[in-house]
Order: sequence, then C-alpha cells, then structure tokens
Amino acid sequence: ALFGPGRRNSGGLDLTSALVLADLDLALAAASTFERAVPVIGGEEKGDGTASPVLDPADHRRVVGEVVEASPAEVEAALTAAGAAFPPWDDLGGEKRAEILDEAAGRLEAERARFMALAIREAGKTIPDALAEVREAIDFLRFYAAEARSRFAGPVRLPGPVGESNELMLGGRGVFACISPWNFPLAIFMGQVAAALAAGNTVVAKPAPQTPLMAAAAVRLLHAAGVPPQALHLLPGGPFVGEALASSPLVDGIAFTGSTATARHINRLRAAMDGPLGPLIAETGGLNAMIVDSSALPEQVVGDCLESAFRSAGQRCSALRIAFIQREAWSRIEPLLKGAMAELSLGDPALLSTDVGPVIDEGARQRLLAHGGRLRHAGRAIAQAPMPAACRVGTFFAPMAYQLENLDLLRSEVFGPILHVVPWEAGHLDKVLDAVAATAYGLTLGIHSRIDATIAQVVARARIGNIYVNRTMIGAVVGSQPFGGLGLSGTGAKAGGPNTLIRYGVERCLSVNT
Ligand code: NAD
Ligand code: ALA
Repeated sequence: ALFGPGRRNSGGLDLTSALVLADLDLALAAASTFERAVPVIGGEEKGDGTASPVLDPADHRRVVGEVVEASPAEVEAALTAAGAAFPPWDDLGGEKRAEILDEAAGRLEAERARFMALAIREAGKTIPDALAEVREAIDFLRFYAAEARSRFAGPVRLPGPVGESNELMLGGRGVFACISPWNFPLAIFMGQVAAALAAGNTVVAKPAPQTPLMAAAAVRLLHAAGVPPQALHLLPGGPFVGEALASSPLVDGIAFTGSTATARHINRLRAAMDGPLGPLIAETGGLNAMIVDSSALPEQVVGDCLESAFRSAGQRCSALRIAFIQREAWSRIEPLLKGAMAELSLGDPALLSTDVGPVIDEGARQRLLAHGGRLRHAGRAIAQAPMPAACRVGTFFAPMAYQLENLDLLRSEVFGPILHVVPWEAGHLDKVLDAVAATAYGLTLGIHSRIDATIAQVVARARIGNIYVNRTMIGAVVGSQPFGGLGLSGTGAKAGGPNTLIRYGVERCLSVNT
C-alpha cells in the first residue's frame, strides 16, 4: 500500500514504429517554432524583462525559444503569493492533491511527443533519453500522488492510556523553493515540484538557466491539470534568482539538485539568514566508480561502461567516471573498449542512429577540454570516439577514455563523457575501496564480479547511495530504485522512494484528554 495500490510506472514507446516517429517529427518541427519562459506569478505571465534566446546545444544556429529572467521584485511577489496560498493547499488534503497530480501525469503522458521534442532541442537529449526523461517525470507525479494518498490523507491514530487520544498529522511545511539542474530539465524539475506539492507545500520553482523552456511548459501543464496558480510559481533565472530564494526568510524549505559547490553555497546563505529553520534537501554530484574483477564478463563490462559513462554525453550525476579494473581483466577488456568507442555515433540527437548528443553549452565543453589537456600529461590515452565535421555547429565533445595509475587528477566531479580507467592488482580490493571512500562522494557504484564474497565485501564497505551489480549504473527507476547519494553527493531524502515525502513535510501531534 505504501507505493500506492495499482500504481504503475509509465509505458515506453515503440521507437521502431513509423507512426511514433512521425508523431515525434511533427513535434520536433513545432519545437523549432518558438517557446517562451517568463516569470509566472499567480498564473500570470510577466514578460517585462529583457528576453534572451535559448539555443539548441546541437546546433547554435537554431533558436528554440526565449527566456526572461525574474527580477528581485518578482521573486518577492512569488514568495508572498505562495505564502498566502499555503493554508488552503495544505488543507485540501493528500487525496485531493493526489487527484490533481494524477491528472497532470495523464496530460503529460498524452503529450509525450511534444515534451520529448523539447528535451531534444533544448537539452540536446537523444531520442531514447528524451523518452526516459518524460517517463520519469510522469512516474514522479504518480508516485508522489500515491504517497500523498497513503500518508498525507489524514491523521494516524497512535496508542495512549484510556481517556486520551493521540494523533499524528502529516502536512506541508510552507513555501518550498525548488532549484533544479539542466541535465534532467523535466524529470528533476517535475520530481521536486511534485514532491513538494504532494506534501502540502506551495512552490516557487527556479529551473536551470540553460533549460527554462521545458520548465515553463511543465508549469503550464500543472496549472491546466488543476494546481492552483497561486500554489505554483515559476522564476526563470540563474544564480542571482537562486541566491534570492536561498536567502529569503519567506522560504520554509529548499529542494536543490545541482553541484556540490552550489549546495554548499546555499547552505551558507541559509545559515546566515534570520528566517525559519527549514531543511535543505540537496542532491548533488558524484565521482562514481565501477569495480571490475577478473571474474567479470568482458563484453558485458564494455557494454555497461559505454552506457554508464557516455550515454547522455556523460551528463548524468549517476554516470561512471572511474572504472577500477583488475589488471588481468583489463588486458582482455581494453581492445573491446577501443573497438566499441570507435563505433560510437556523435551527432544530431533527433536522429535515432545517434548514440551521443552535445554537451549543454560552451562552458561545459571548455571544462572538458581543459580536463582532457591535463589527462594528456598525466595518463595514457585509450581511445576517443570520432567527431564528425557536422558537429562543429554545436557544443560536442567526443567521448574519451584515459588510463591513470592514481586519482591525483580527480578531486572533484568531471561532468561529461570522459572515462578514467585505473587498473588494480589481484588481492588489492581493499586499496580500491579506500580510493573510492577517499573521493568523499557517495552517489553510485557499479560492481562487475561473479564472486559473491567480493560483491558482499564491496557492498558492506561502500558508503554509496545506489549500488548496481553486473549491470549499468544509470537510470534509476522511480519507486524501484530510490535515487540519491551520501557524503558530498547529497543530504537525502532519496528521490522516488518511500521516505521522500516526509522530508518535504512536517509532523504535528495532537493529544486530547477525552
Ligand atoms: P549547478 O549547481 O550549477 O546549478 C543547479 C541549479 O542551481 C541551477 O538552477 C542554478 O541556476 C542554480 N544555482 C547556481 N548557482 C547558484 C547560487 N549561487 N545560488 C543559488 N542557486 C544557484 O548545477 P548544474 O550545472 O545545473 O547541474 C549539474 C550538476 O547537478 C552536476 O554536479 C550533477 O552531478 C548534479 N546533479 C545531481 C543529481 C542528483 O540527483 N544527485 C541529479 C542531477 C544533477
Ligand atoms: N536518476 C538519474 C539516473 O539514475 C540521475 O541516472
């Protein structure tokens, strides 16, 4: 019952069907016409500020839409309106809020092609990634709706002596600021907003500056599904808007997903502010490892490394960054990895044949180039995927793999398609586990081994939020693989898990002498 009776994750699409692809083509053509993201306060679109173009990362000549950043006065207005709207939204109760979120899920499912097209054009997602993105957003809506129904619907009776009744009531905390990253511009945006709304909070949402259009479309959909305009406001913008939210005493809680450095900064701003002591739910970066021993199946390791390190152009917090491969296995795996990387297809993410799309912007590409430059001095090049000339019109970075003998170069997350391979000697698994622990991150970990004792040793030792054995280490499924890390990777609560909503809410206890 905890996961909601009858709840199911959303279905896929047959990407070999001509009808499905024709639908997507139509939506892609429409997505190239124009989208707008402006501050939305109380349902009203405010278009007074200066508009900037939003460019397709795969082809900078294509303008996907425009964005108007929220002003300080608009931040204040949104927070004030959200504060006033909190009591009626909270009082509505879990069941009614769940009905609205389910309605939103249904509408999103009906509009999959349009949202996929936006994910492709605004965020450079490949077609399978765009589909996964929309499905995850639908799943978050339904999952948190089910959780609101089962846990926020009414008070829970607790035991007490004769003549006394005790009740525990779960409800919203107040106004939640939801600050999201560009790499899951719909799924994480929607996941944060849906969790906060489900628990009874009103929301002021700030998407990443690179991907405001999907967020604007999501807010329009939520309002159309029945979320009261006063309960959900949109503030496009960058760090300036984020800081205004983080340092406002009108904010009762923050859901943040992004880099560890930004989470720390927000923490400092909250600590310096004289407002309520609300939670900062921060889901941050990782330096994720895969540990491979000599019993692993080489072909499977290569397939899972490619998928985990290079899918989504390596722009997943969960992505594989460091493959620790036992030296005798590495000699068998290396030629296979080289061969497979030579076959990776970089290019237009709107083509089904594309494996790897662009990185999000020029800043991201420059950071990867700089890291590649350092690797050339410190490591041994294994392979780099070919870069077609047509990729010059966008911000592409060809997936690369380097062999290192230690992690001196890897002190923080490298966000893109660069795989580091570190061979290890038989009998030295402890040293590998020490190195993983020394990163101080704890988001995802892969293990490839056919030896139960080895798997058990790694699992027992690793302080990691999501561990994957003999499979890929990306693509956590809502409700099945609650997602989130430890240490530098986040505070919890995990997204899409049975303990998520409680972190967004408050508990009140009522004891009555009858
Ligand atoms: P980022 O930290 O640069 O930005 C995230 C959000 O914070 C954006 O909306 C941004 O505008 C805002 N922001 C930036 N500076 C701010 C400031 N000074 N004050 C307040 N808000 C500010 O991260 P990004 O580049 O958008 O996203 C990539 C990062 O997100 C990677 O580190 C990745 O690992 C992480 N991520 C983590 C998860 C997870 O679940 N753990 C999921 C996806 C992405
Ligand atoms: N939830 C995303 C994944 O697991 C980040 O890849």
